[in-house]
Amino acid sequence: MAAPVALLRPGTPATRGAGIACGRRSILALLGCLMLLSPGLQAEPDALRQRQLDNLLLQDCGSCHGLRMTGGLGPALTRQALADIPRDSLIATVTHGRPGTAMPGWNALLDEQDIAWLVDQLLQGYPRP
Ligand code: HEC
Repeated sequence: MAAPVALLRPGTPATRGAGIACGRRSILALLGCLMLLSPGLQAEPDALRQRQLDNLLLQDCGSCHGLRMTGGLGPALTRQALADIPRDSLIATVTHGRPGTAMPGWNALLDEQDIAWLVDQLLQGYPRP
């Protein structure tokens, strides 16, 4: 009978083999690893979170940028208005705000994935027609 894994020292062939077998178990597991390791492949917020963020975009961002993102206290955030601004710099602005202006940083309330999703909504054109 094989010894229970817990009794094996780390790095023995049996535990190394288990690690490789796990990694090969399925393409889905491999994709899962890739999504965790690669920032470019981050998963989207789940459906509930997307609804919350959608609401935030309208209520909070919209209070300064206009309910249709055509500008108010803050500049327009329409697809056309943002077309020439790199995605990374939009993400940085939403994350850290613009010190000395009314634009607050959102990193206390939102994580990276949330902010990237919000920026992508704006880049795709928000609100949707
Ligand atoms: C209290 C008002 C206020 C709120 C709330 C606010 N913003 Fe802003 N935002 C501003 C102002 C003012 C600027 C322009 C800052 C400057 O002059 O550089 C700005 C700039 C920006 C920019 C940069 C636009 C550009 O042309 O470079 C982005 C992107 C942005 N806001 C997104 C958001 C998002 C997303 C939210 C909601 C999560 C939000 N803002 C909430 C006031 C606000």
